[in-house]
Amino acid sequence: MARDQPIERSDSVEELTEASLTKRRKIEHIEICLDEDVQCRRSTMFEDIKLLHNALPEINKDTIDLTTNFFGLRADYPIVIAAMTGGHPETYKINQRLAEAAEELKIPIGVGSQRSGLENPDLADTFKVVRDCAPTVPVIANIGATHVNLAAEAVSMVEADILAIHLNPLQEAIQPEGDCNSIGVIDNIAQIVDIVDVPVICKETGAGISGEVAKALENVGVVGVDVGGVGGTSWAAVEYYRALKEDDAIKAQMGLEFWDFGIPTALSVIMVSDATDLDIIATGGIRTGLDVSKALSLGAISAGVAHPFLYPATRGRTEDVVGEISKFIEGLRTAMYLTGCDSIEKLQIRPLIIGGKLLESLNSLGIDYEQLVSGTQIDFDI
Ligand SMILES: Cc1cc2nc3c(=O)[nH]c(=O)nc-3n(C[C@H](O)[C@H](O)[C@H](O)COP(=O)(O)O)c2cc1C
Repeated sequence: MARDQPIERSDSVEELTEASLTKRRKIEHIEICLDEDVQCRRSTMFEDIKLLHNALPEINKDTIDLTTNFFGLRADYPIVIAAMTGGHPETYKINQRLAEAAEELKIPIGVGSQRSGLENPDLADTFKVVRDCAPTVPVIANIGATHVNLAAEAVSMVEADILAIHLNPLQEAIQPEGDCNSIGVIDNIAQIVDIVDVPVICKETGAGISGEVAKALENVGVVGVDVGGVGGTSWAAVEYYRALKEDDAIKAQMGLEFWDFGIPTALSVIMVSDATDLDIIATGGIRTGLDVSKALSLGAISAGVAHPFLYPATRGRTEDVVGEISKFIEGLRTAMYLTGCDSIEKLQIRPLIIGGKLLESLNSLGIDYEQLVSGTQIDFDI
């Protein structure tokens, strides 16, 4: 990536203040995600879902309606630019390109964890740029559950429409300086829901959300979850590389052991949908428009994508980000055409074929998937 100024990374973790450590971590995460293989080796399980082909679609591919209701707001496509960054001067441009692309395509965008911008006001611009460049689309603020006192400020910093509380115990467990005291997190989330005046969602960052966890979140007033499941970027992998640099052999070993730990994205969407009435965003390993269509067919309102947009946003131009997102849109449109669905609502009620490890997992968890496989026949039989 182009660097305007040297990156502070010579000091060891112990020698840095909390605020400068957070800031340094931001840029290390970007560099590791760009330079190393940080993808899960297990899959999302979307390959175990097949959409039923319709050789007589009787719809016009060009007029398929891809608009979606995103927590009460309109989005032109059911695709979200998932939370990634902000909090280091070099992230300003990245967020600017992502936000310009979101505005051009009229899709929602999340900012990365705002802790660094709240601890250090000089860095607030690296987040604010998102609202400045994306004035008309849903913007999602982002904080950790421990930062109850920062929640309202995080929302106002980016004039957010929605607040996402990130849940990342796997990352914290591998991170050399990670915080693994999770006692009271659900109470913190309940407090945040009370404090802020926008809808609150919770998002995992790559290890998935179970039905049980989703139910607990629903009970404290959260309106949606981003399942952030296994199959894409692995935060155990990212922290593995940081642990190696810190010569932390035990954490590095943990990174290897837990590289693929968690609930695959497709399974997580089904679990949350089975257990709650929450709106679901499917993130984690969404790599094609066909993946997006499968996520929607499981009942998600939208699919989130992070890592695939990082390279064009860092090393390219806004047009490159738009081009990358456009591939997802075209893949989704093609999947909908080939299944004869001219709206997302119709895709959500089409029958699916479910097999492989996903079927085994559903059976072993005792989850009823009858509705997914029988669907509601629209106007033909296969
Ligand atoms: C470089 C990078 C930084 C990220 N930072 C955050 C963050 O600050 N807060 C958050 O909630 N998720 C963060 N994520 C997680 C993503 O939002 C997403 O859940 C995860 O990467 C899985 O999606 P993917 O497989 O498409 O990358 C980050 C992801 C990447 C690639």
